[in-house]
Formats: sequence, C-alpha cells, structure tokens
Amino acid sequence: MVQKCLRGRILTFTAEPQSPEDESAHLYIEDGALVIEDGIITACGTFSEINEQLSETAEIIDHRPALLMPGFIDTHLHFPQVQVIASWGAQLLDWLENYTFPAEAKYSDIAHAERMAVHFFDELIGQGTTTTVAYCSSHKASADAYFAEAARRNMRVIGGKTMMDRNAPAETCDTAQSGYDDSKALIASWHGKGRALYAVTPRFAITSTPAQLEASGALAREHPDCYVQTHLDENHAEIHTTLELYPDAPDYLGIYEHYGLLGPKTLLGHCIHLEPREIDVMIETASKPVFCPTSNLFLGSGLFDYEGLRARGAECAIATDIGGGTSYSMLQTLNEGYKVQALRGPKLHPYRAFYWITLGNAKALGLEDKIGTLDVGSEADIVVLDSKATPAMALRMEVCNTLAEELFILQIMADDRSISETYVAGEAMKAR
Ligand code: GUN
Ligand code: ZN
Repeated sequence: MVQKCLRGRILTFTAEPQSPEDESAHLYIEDGALVIEDGIITACGTFSEINEQLSETAEIIDHRPALLMPGFIDTHLHFPQVQVIASWGAQLLDWLENYTFPAEAKYSDIAHAERMAVHFFDELIGQGTTTTVAYCSSHKASADAYFAEAARRNMRVIGGKTMMDRNAPAETCDTAQSGYDDSKALIASWHGKGRALYAVTPRFAITSTPAQLEASGALAREHPDCYVQTHLDENHAEIHTTLELYPDAPDYLGIYEHYGLLGPKTLLGHCIHLEPREIDVMIETASKPVFCPTSNLFLGSGLFDYEGLRARGAECAIATDIGGGTSYSMLQTLNEGYKVQALRGPKLHPYRAFYWITLGNAKALGLEDKIGTLDVGSEADIVVLDSKATPAMALRMEVCNTLAEELFILQIMADDRSISETYVAGEAMKAR
C-alpha cells in the first residue's frame, strides 16, 4: 500500500471549545505528520514518531511551516447560483425573482450545468472546502452534473434537486409528482454511491404546494438515511407570504413539522426571525439551524442569534449560502460571522470558529466519524493553510504570539491565497 506522509503543524479539534481559555478541545502538534493510505488517515503524531514507522516507499510531503487542518465543510449553498453572486439591490423575494430563478432556469441545459459544476468545485477546492451540502436546480440534470463532478474528484458531498412547483417561472418548476419521481431516481443513482449522500430539497414553503411538501415528507420517510434541506425564517416578507399560503399553520416551522420534514438530518437555512415555539420544535426534533452570515448581511435579512440558539441546545451549522452569500471562502464566512456576533454580544472566538467549520459542521451532519477531524480512520480531506500568504498577513504575523491569535488572523484576513493545498481523500487537488 502506498503511504503518503504530510508534514506540518497539525491542528484538529476533539470537542467544541467551551471558552477562549479552553485549550483541551484541540490537538496541536508543532512538528506533526499525518499518514494517508487509500484516502484514509492511518496515523497522526509527531514527525519523529511517525517517521520511524513509515515504509521505505512512503512519499513525504513537507508543508512546514503551514498548518494542516481538516478540510472545510460548507453546509448550505446553491450550485446553480455561481453566476448570481454580487447581484445588486434586492432583498430575498425580489432577488429570487429578478436574478436567481432566471439563472437557475439555464440549468435545464445539461452542458451548462456540467460546465458550471467544474467551476463550482474548482472554486470551492481553491478555498479549502472539501464537503458541500448543495441545492441543485429543479432540473434532474443539474443534480446529475453536481454529483458526477464531485465523484470525479472523489469528494464527500451532499446535495439534492430543488423541489419547487409554484410561485416561480414555469422553466424552474417541477410538479409534486415529477419532483418526487426525479428525487427518487437521484437517490437511487447517487445516495451512498462513493462518497455522495442525498438531501431531499423542497426549496421553501412559498415555492412548494401542500401536495409537494407531502411528497417531500414521503421521500424523507421512505429514505430516513437521506438529509432534508430547506429555508426558514430568513426575511420578514418571506415569512408574511408563507403564512398567507399556509393559513392553518401555527408558524413557519409548523408547516415543515406538519409534513414530517423535521429531524436530526434536517438542515434549516437562515433561521433568523424565529418564534419561541419554532425554537422549541427545532430543539425537540434536533433539526439544525444553518447560519449564513455573508448572505444574511448581503440580502439585509438580519442577525442570526447564534449564542441564543446555542444556549437553548441547538446544534448550529455555518455556511456560505452561495450565491446570496458573497464568498466561497469559509474563512471569509467566519470573518462576517464574527461581525454579526459582534453586533449581538459575545464575540466568536477563533477556536470556536475553526471548530465550527470542521468538526462542528461534521457533527451537525452526523458525519464526524468520516470528516471534520484528522483522527486516525478519518477520510483524508485536509487543508494546508499559510498564515503569511499576503504581505499584510505577514506583517500582522510578525507580532503574533499564540495559536489563537494566528487563527484569528486567518479568520479575519485570509481567503484562497492562504490555501496552499487542498487534499481530497488524500489527493492534492488545488494545483490541478
Ligand atoms: N430562500 C428560498 N430560496 C432561497 C435561495 O436560493 N437563497 C436564499 N438565500 N434564500 C432562499
Ligand atoms: Zn439557501
């Protein structure tokens, strides 16, 4: 078996850091090494320790003084919105109508979807992201393009064909029946194939009839090992329209609850303007709220209450929400996340931040045995980080004294220029 050994400063989290002083939730090895065999991490320790056990044919790749961390996990983004990013002047509902639906309509063309899939994953790998949880367009072909491109790169991805059968242009709509049939076919083709997993994806209640949410609930029941992803409580006009469309629901989340769409594998994008009952139900069902800071600021949606939800026991995920989000970078997502928290109270500490985009998001997906750490047995998705990648960062690093401070510099100043390499299942992918 060919061994690959990556040498560098190893940083991986073992638990959620409880405070800025909590040094017990991570493992840091100044001169560390990871051994990779068949895409899996088979050893992690000091270089001197590891070097003694290496086979003679092992390939040693010296990344010193870079940091080696688990690949970043983006838990909510839209594959057909790569050409929607930076669309001016609208809040959610106008933004969807004016920019997003027209862009998504183009994904009925498989050649377009395939071309965009290459750019989508190139961009994400360039930013150190190794796992994506994506909405595809309503066209089955777009989900095939997404999964096929991810499979070509051997990436662990989650995704689903968006289900939407009303309040959108005809070219972007399916029907309750075709949405069910296409989702079913995609699950058969992709769920559990290689590293891919499927998410049943009703876009949100505004664009799904009761019949379609019923069909989504049936899919979730028939495939309990699949995820469910949708949007919740992002924008006041959205909430108002939703409650007009579902007048019998106690609140917005009550709609998804009614159709059996909640549970530990359900990811709820945004969750900004929550009612107390919605928070209770989210906690009871262990559904996961997803914080999308760049998008929430860009669309003027509001400030996610991370500390409040966390205090209630919610397991929050964090994501870019491309293309309402403005950066593919999970580091820039943390940067904006820090600012959102700064406006609400307690600051987002870098230990918690880097835990979040690795092990924290992996746990929210229930995949912590596979991704999100550098533990032995984990899949070898690894990012190599250069904290002095730009002159401004190098200057700032001259007066950096601690690991936490270095991480904060990365959290605030870094982007793809700091990603020296991204390994997917042990293969260097960025330079490709
Ligand atoms: N709500 C329903 N669809 C979308 C979308 O594509 N982006 C965002 N940010 N919110 C949504
Ligand atoms: Zn979204």
